[in-house]
Amino acid sequence: MGRKVTVSVIKADVGGYVGHSSVHPELLEKARGVLSGSPLLIDFHVTHVGDDINLILTHELGRNNGEIHQLAWDTFVACTEVAKKLKLYGAGQDLLADAFSGNIKGLGPGVAEMEVEERESEPIVIFMADKTEPGAWNYPLYKMFADPFNTIGLVIDPKMHNGFVFEVRDLIEDKKIMFHAPEDIYDMLVFIGAPGRYAIKRIFHKDTGQIAAVSSTQRLNLMAGRYVGKDDPVCIVRCQSGYPALGEVLEPFAHPHLVSGWMRGSHSGPLMPVGLRQATPTRFDGPPRVVALGFQLANGRLVGPQDLFDDPAFDRARNLCNLIADYMRHLGPFEPHRLHLDEMEYTTMPMVMKKLKDRFIDLRMLKAQKAKAEQEKQKAES
Ligand code: 13P
Ligand code: 13P
Ligand code: MG
Ligand code: MG
Repeated sequence: MGRKVTVSVIKADVGGYVGHSSVHPELLEKARGVLSGSPLLIDFHVTHVGDDINLILTHELGRNNGEIHQLAWDTFVACTEVAKKLKLYGAGQDLLADAFSGNIKGLGPGVAEMEVEERESEPIVIFMADKTEPGAWNYPLYKMFADPFNTIGLVIDPKMHNGFVFEVRDLIEDKKIMFHAPEDIYDMLVFIGAPGRYAIKRIFHKDTGQIAAVSSTQRLNLMAGRYVGKDDPVCIVRCQSGYPALGEVLEPFAHPHLVSGWMRGSHSGPLMPVGLRQATPTRFDGPPRVVALGFQLANGRLVGPQDLFDDPAFDRARNLCNLIADYMRHLGPFEPHRLHLDEMEYTTMPMVMKKLKDRFIDLRMLKAQKAKAEQEKQKAES
């Protein structure tokens, strides 16, 4: 076994170019400039998906390290200054606090971190999405780690045959529960099938207890108490030798699923797997995009990336996404294209409700009044 390395993927939207569609190259340059001066890192890679900047950092300081989080925060603050100068859209959007306070969680940016003891060969995939939310990973993670129709390794690889353990978070009540696959899958699906509330946070190898996957589960609108954009999540997955093979990790995205997000974070739409050059959601600010970058870790060095969805094998998935997008768009402001009322709480819905409060006539009260009047009439007549 090799040395212990932490991979931290920290992301934020600190200004869109143009609108919410992309990141200006000057911001990426700034981020690279700040990170390249840091003695804390073994390696880093800066990229973007849609309007979100993703910092992929490797180091030996473990998860939730204050110095690493501070470095990411300072990077986003520096990028925000550039965004303000260029008057980019929503400059500083995801930085909810005025100053850093020890841990970047809860301050706006999304975080996924895993500490691994590097194997002889350590292939990892970093998934990054725009115009959606953390629960978007539930479906593909389930397929990768619990569905033998996706991952044949669960059946034929003795190192995977016992399955995996899923840590699921209740994002509303801030609770967690562990499910063992395959034995608990029916119970687990009751929850992870509701991805707006329950999100898979981590997956562990059942035999070894080693980390297999981790996602960001920050919910920006819950933290801010108002709509400030969706959470545009990230996810790190280990591959091969006891974990799903690279192709098994990518396979769920060949069958696009519907996720919440898209225009104004308030619509359901297909998650389109794309290469980096197509990671610019434009149609109705979407449809939501996912990028997969593959790296080989080599003593903490990020050898890569390989832009894994930049592959004609995913053309059919993209075409299907466009067909689904056409269909969903026809529905306009109607559910299920527009999200369910519960998900609209942090938009104009409460405001409209308040405005129209006095125009709603209480029919139960009306009926009761009528019944009473009728009773009194009968009494007077008898
Ligand atoms: P591993 O045991 O190396 O994961 O082999 C599986 C494989 O590579 C199938 O594509
Ligand atoms: P982001 O969450 O990616 O900033 O998008 C916000 C939005 O309103 C898109 O229409
Ligand atoms: Mg944005
Ligand atoms: Mg975004």
